[in-house]
Amino acid sequence: MTDNIVPFDYERLPEMPDGVYTAPLRRPAHLAQDWLEPAQRRYTGDENAIWDELYHRQMEVLPGRACTAFLEGTERLDLGRGGVPDFERLSAELGALTGWSVVPVPMLIPDHVFFWHLANRRFPAGNFIRTRDTFDYIQEPDVFHDVFGHVPMLTDPVYADYMQAYGRAGWKAMRHNRLKALGALYWYTVEFGLVKEGDALRAYGAGILSGPREAVFAIEGQSPNRVMLNVDRVVRTDYVIDDLQPTYFVIESFDDLFRQTVGRDFDRLYQALGPGFTYANTAVIDVDDVLHHGTLEYHLRGGRGSGAKPV
Ligand code: PHE
Ligand code: CO
Repeated sequence: MTDNIVPFDYERLPEMPDGVYTAPLRRPAHLAQDWLEPAQRRYTGDENAIWDELYHRQMEVLPGRACTAFLEGTERLDLGRGGVPDFERLSAELGALTGWSVVPVPMLIPDHVFFWHLANRRFPAGNFIRTRDTFDYIQEPDVFHDVFGHVPMLTDPVYADYMQAYGRAGWKAMRHNRLKALGALYWYTVEFGLVKEGDALRAYGAGILSGPREAVFAIEGQSPNRVMLNVDRVVRTDYVIDDLQPTYFVIESFDDLFRQTVGRDFDRLYQALGPGFTYANTAVIDVDDVLHHGTLEYHLRGGRGSGAKPV
């Protein structure tokens, strides 16, 4: 297709083409176009204590629920040494393993800037940490979600390559005005993915790994569907960001994830795709390879805020 004639330069910050549907974000005045903070925040004693408490709470829940790559990653990077990790130290250690670094940003950043950092193996991490009022749940990704949830997985070489490939994939998604579709793939893999380990399922998604309830719900709950990942299906699936997931998608291995995504021609995929989603996030469809057909009890009883139990 003639679509392919312009090669992308992944080292240059791309421009968001006019007319592309994306969330507008206003850049704070002290930041340049890369959205990077000049330095990581200096955390107070209480902020460092919040990190430690969150860390220990997760470590109670995650053995037997988080995947091996994640648990090994937390150890190799020694994320429990006390206090919010220093990004420079983390970047040096992670850099030696897979060439990734961790860079501070103030908040969610625009899609094109996010793609550019990932394509260059820089993981943008929120600088701030949640307060005690928002200890259990915050919608904005803070340093605990970003560093504890995402960074350990970047020690896995195949996963590390997937994240970079995902960033590069942003260029095509912008050209086709299909950012929501690529966003759904991120959501159901990087944020909420499950991976097979032998006969068991384990979490590799950061949204699962950084919260106390979802790890139990995703692995043991009867409510959620668990379906084998199919890229063409997932990019057509709606997602909600403010509740436990009704459906989790499962990969055989990180090689499987890499092959399915990098091996699919997304130009052709986007050409076939409408601007919106086809499937509700609760749906199980004919082509699904279903591991567990969920009861959806939690969501049918009203989900978040209703008092329904996450069963
Ligand atoms: N294979 C995709 C393309 O044709 C790229 C991609 C890689 C998409 C990884 C998602 C994740 O550009
Ligand atoms: Co995240």
